[in-house]
Amino acid sequence: MKFVKFGPTTLEVPAIALGIMRMNKKTPEEASELLTAAHDQGVNYIDSADIYGQGKSEEVFGRALKLSGLSRTDFHIQSKTGIVPGHRYDFSKEHILSAVDGILERMQVDYLDSLLLHRPDALMDVEEVAEAFDLLQQRGKVRFFGVSNFNPSQISLLQSAVSQRLIIDQVQFSLDHTGMIDEGIFVNRTEDEGMVRSSGLLNYCQEHHLLVQTWSPFQNSQMSASFIDNPFFPKLNRELEKLAEAHHTNKNAIAVAWILRHPAQMQVLIGTMNPKHLLDSCEGAGIKLTRQEWYDLYLAVGHDLP
Ligand SMILES: NC(=O)c1ccc[n+]([C@@H]2O[C@H](COP(=O)([O-])OP(=O)(O)OC[C@H]3O[C@@H](n4cnc5c(N)ncnc54)[C@H](OP(=O)(O)O)[C@@H]3O)[C@@H](O)[C@H]2O)c1
Repeated sequence: MKFVKFGPTTLEVPAIALGIMRMNKKTPEEASELLTAAHDQGVNYIDSADIYGQGKSEEVFGRALKLSGLSRTDFHIQSKTGIVPGHRYDFSKEHILSAVDGILERMQVDYLDSLLLHRPDALMDVEEVAEAFDLLQQRGKVRFFGVSNFNPSQISLLQSAVSQRLIIDQVQFSLDHTGMIDEGIFVNRTEDEGMVRSSGLLNYCQEHHLLVQTWSPFQNSQMSASFIDNPFFPKLNRELEKLAEAHHTNKNAIAVAWILRHPAQMQVLIGTMNPKHLLDSCEGAGIKLTRQEWYDLYLAVGHDLP
């Protein structure tokens, strides 16, 4: 497994992590098999959120970890909080503290390696978040902190108040969700790609040494289905197939390698619950695409270069 820097720390983490958003649909036995397959591949980083399956994903994970015979320390365990489904975003101190207790109980662990704030809360009071982070750290419940779906100024504002260094921003990025790089390629142009959607997030994260975790690497932009082998993406699938043959691998691996080719050293969060797709995806960590191959894939999604 290839490793990437864990933000500004001296630690390294695998370039591929396993997200358990869909684990609620699996039995603990099936999930245990997947965890073992992931661990065997060096994918020892788990991403969760308190809302996945309304908590059921974390319950299944907790039971699966016990069944697998692997131990707590065999994985870096990360979760997220701050979304109250259908109602509000909530970064209040009370919500963050009680959410972490719920996560720990469901996952049957004593601490989280990292906790992220899931999606920006318009009512974020950074001093209140700072108090929550301090308490979680003092009580030994969370080691590292980060955010998800934040833009640079939101990160900067929060960082100005919290005493811990923010390590991670987790954002959507894939061959079919390229806004973060479009805005750089199409600077000052009138095409839709020129719209500034992330406010220079990729540059910011590189400059400030934050780990960019990319979610949904195989999903189409609207998250309705995977683009792999999807007839609505004929050109992209032809290009994926061509490069898969050239590199003696498969389409999942090429889609992962495309993300890992970026110098920001991102970590790819895969969400498959299928051990075969997991193994296929892991092959991507061993492939380095050429510049031309990288741009050919970008063009195959339907972009033109200005
Ligand atoms: N921070 C956020 O706001 C946010 C939002 C969404 C997700 N996430 C995180 O990102 C993780 C990954 O998200 P995701 O599950 O949407 O990502 P994903 O890995 O892009 O998508 C997984 C889906 O693609 C399917 N798939 C994979 N390979 C396939 C293939 N070769 N053929 C057909 N279907 C294939 C999987 O089906 P199989 O299971 O059958 O392989 C599964 O339904 C989540 O678990 C979560 O941890 C974060």
